[in-house]
Amino acid sequence: MSLRGATICGVGSYLPETVLTNADWERMVDTTDEWIIRHTGINERRLAADDQASSDLAIKAAQRALDDAGISPEQIGLIMLTTVTPDYFFPATACLVQDAIGAKNAGAMDMSSGCTGFIYAMAAGANFVRSGDYDYVLLISAEVLTRIADWTDRSTCVLFGDGAGAAVMGPCGRDEGLLSFALSSHGEYGDLLILPGGGSRLRLTSELIAQGQDCLAMQGPEIFKLAVRGIPRIAHEALDKAGLRPADVSAVIMHQANRRILDAAADRLDIDPKKVINTVSKYGNTSAASVPMCLDDTYRKGQLSPGDIVLFVGFGAGFTLGAAVVRWTLPPFTSA
Ligand code: ACO
Repeated sequence: MSLRGATICGVGSYLPETVLTNADWERMVDTTDEWIIRHTGINERRLAADDQASSDLAIKAAQRALDDAGISPEQIGLIMLTTVTPDYFFPATACLVQDAIGAKNAGAMDMSSGCTGFIYAMAAGANFVRSGDYDYVLLISAEVLTRIADWTDRSTCVLFGDGAGAAVMGPCGRDEGLLSFALSSHGEYGDLLILPGGGSRLRLTSELIAQGQDCLAMQGPEIFKLAVRGIPRIAHEALDKAGLRPADVSAVIMHQANRRILDAAADRLDIDPKKVINTVSKYGNTSAASVPMCLDDTYRKGQLSPGDIVLFVGFGAGFTLGAAVVRWTLPPFTSA
């Protein structure tokens, strides 16, 4: 039994300035605003500038989370960055961020768990804090998904957006902060959501690039079914471990892939749909970044108070699932 708990003590996010609307997509592929809204609930998403990579977004989100936590970069012991769109295979994007923000005492590593990345990092980061190995762990999720999307494939390109979110985890009392988590992986479904080329399996050639093997490929309806079936299971597992019921939950911060998945999850979890936060309408699917971006949006609207039970849920490439239950400790956000 650890002597202390681990909590989120600062949150931040960064959104690229350019807004890409459904009307913009109507001009580029054979789609309509009406189809996109009816099938996904997405109205608009952000597009990174040509000179912005994931680390550029991550740096800004991290600085905002550090400001919010009121700690200096030197106090960070470890940076865990989750992304499916790193700047490079190596060095790790986390190392680029570590240098840029001046976290000179921190170790740094990237993790890849698809859209579930932030939940995996929260679970691991909390254990580093609870064990006493580090006082502060910086969690960052950053994505420039528009750079691996096939801009000619209407079934995927309209879904994705760019952005970054970050949170600082630090020590707290044993009965608050992260109370429980549940993680699972289903590698047999790995090919349903995949970036086939560019790794050690398939070296990219101009021929393979012409075939679109350098772009994300997704079998959307199959992922949809796995998500809707898996979310209640993983959420119940985490809630049971914390000794809580769905009725105890104040807010659900879930991976923002599709409004219909958010609605189905609320229904199957028997949680008031108003508690399931929706930011997919304005940011689209930002993969690993969607959970901390949604958290920051909710927090900065002053919608979270100490004692609230926040249920985090993620699902995505792998196929991975994750849920975490947090007794919130930060006071409602007010701008200075
Ligand atoms: N505009 C117009 N028509 C379209 C578009 C579009 N943008 N995209 C597809 N269609 C058409 C299809 O061609 C198809 O036409 P057909 O019936 O004539 O063949 C029809 O619309 C229905 O297509 P479906 O793929 O069955 O549409 P569905 O309602 O399933 O919605 C979607 C597709 C939005 C992708 C949905 O399946 C989904 O959200 N899946 C989950 C995605 C997800 O959660 N991903 C996980 C995380 S992402 C990550 O990890 C990076």
